[in-house]
Amino acid sequence: MKAAITKILTEELAAIRLRLNEAEETLRAIRDGEVDAVMGTGKKGGQVFTLAGAEHAYRMLIEAMHEGALTLTTDIIILYANQCFARMVKCRLEQVAGGSFHRFLSAADADALRVHLKQATRSGVKIQLLLHACDGSKMPVQISIRSLAKKGAKKVIIGMVVTDLTELRRTEEMLRALTHHVVKVQEAERGQVALELHDNITQLLCAILVRSQTLADQLSTHDGPAQQEALKLRALLGHTAEEVECITRNLRPGVLELLGLDAVLRTTSAEFTARTGVVITLTGVALTARLPADTELALYRIFQEALKNVEKHARARQVSVHLAQQGNTAQLLIKDDGVGFNSERQPSKGKGSHRLGLLGMRERAAYVGGTLTIKSLRRSGTEIEVRVLLSPANPTIN
Ligand SMILES: Nc1ncnc2c1ncn2[C@@H]1O[C@H](COP(=O)(O)OP(=O)(O)OP(=O)(O)O)[C@@H](O)[C@H]1O
Ligand SMILES: [Mg+2]
Repeated sequence: MKAAITKILTEELAAIRLRLNEAEETLRAIRDGEVDAVMGTGKKGGQVFTLAGAEHAYRMLIEAMHEGALTLTTDIIILYANQCFARMVKCRLEQVAGGSFHRFLSAADADALRVHLKQATRSGVKIQLLLHACDGSKMPVQISIRSLAKKGAKKVIIGMVVTDLTELRRTEEMLRALTHHVVKVQEAERGQVALELHDNITQLLCAILVRSQTLADQLSTHDGPAQQEALKLRALLGHTAEEVECITRNLRPGVLELLGLDAVLRTTSAEFTARTGVVITLTGVALTARLPADTELALYRIFQEALKNVEKHARARQVSVHLAQQGNTAQLLIKDDGVGFNSERQPSKGKGSHRLGLLGMRERAAYVGGTLTIKSLRRSGTEIEVRVLLSPANPTIN
C-alpha cells in the first residue's frame, strides 16, 4: 500500500517537475523574443496575446544601449528606465521606475528641464545638465527629449536618451589646458625671438647703417657712381632696419606693456592703413586704466589676426574698431565692410590657407575666460566681437 502511494506521489512529482520545466522554458522563450503570441484562457474563453516581435527587439536594443533610456509621463514620473540609466544614477532599477525624474536633478536644472519639456511636445530638444546619483556623485549628461505621442492618443509619453558627457568634458578640459600651454609657450618663444632680433640683428644693422653713411660721406663727388651706390646701400639698410623693427614689434609689442592696448591699436592701425590703404576708424579706446596683461595681449593678438584676414580675404575699404567696457565686461569689436563669408559653414581647407586664424582667435579669447562671436554674411562684411568678463578687482576702462 505504502509502496503504491509512494509510486503515485513520485509520478505526480515528476509530472509537476515537467510542467515547471515547460513553464520556465516558455518564460525564457517569451523573454528572448522567440514567441510571437500566447494563448490564454480567461473568463471569456481562449484569448490570444500577441507579443509584438518588433517591440521586443526594440526593448532588447534599448537594454543593450550604452546610454540611459527612459519613458516618462509629462509630469516627469518615470514609467520605464533601462539598466544603463540605473547604473548612471547608481540605483537599483526597481528604485527608479515609478519615481520622479526630478530627484536626479538640482532645483535649477529641474526648472530648465520643465521649460525644455514644453518644447519637446512639439519637437525634439536637447539639454545638458548634471545628473545627481543616489550615492551623491554628479555626472554631466546630455538629455535628448522627444514626445512619443501616438496620433489621436490622449496621453503623451516622453522619451529620453541620457548620454554621459564625463569623457567629453575631460577631453575638453585637457584640450583647454593644452591650448593654454601652447599659447604660453608661443608667447615666450615670440618674446625670445623678438629680444634676439632687437639685441643682435637691429644693433648690427644700426652699426652697418652708420658705417655705410661714413662711407658715403668719405666718397667725394669725383667717385660719382660709387657714392650713389653707397647712398642707395644706406637707404636700403635703413629700410631693412625698419622692417626688422616692425617684425620685432609684432612679435612682442613693447608698447603694449609700456603704453597699453589703445596705444598699440593706434600704431598697428596706422601701419596697416599705410601698407594696405584700408582706413581704420577707432572708437571708444580712451582707457583710463589698464586691463590685466593677459587680457591686453589676447585682445591684441585677436586684433592682429582679424586684420590679417581683412587684408587676405575681405576686400574691404573700411574697418571700424571699438574698444569699450560694458558693466564688468571688456568688449572689442572689429567690423569690416568687405565681401563677408558664410560663418555658419564649417570652413574647408583652401590652397595656401590653414584655416586656423578664426580658431586661434577663439582659443585666445577662451584663454582669458572670454568669448568670441563672428557675424558674417556674403557681401555684408564681417564683425568679430570679443567679450571678456573682468573680475571686480580688475581695473576698469571707459
Ligand atoms: N574678414 C573676413 N572677410 C571675408 N572672409 C573672411 C574674413 N575672415 C575670415 N574669412 C573667411 O574665413 C575663412 C577662415 O579664416 P581663418 O582665418 O580661420 O583661415 P585663413 O585666413 O584662411 O588661414 P590662416 O588664418 O590659418 O592662415 C577664410 O579662408 C575666409 O574664407
Ligand atoms: Mg586667417
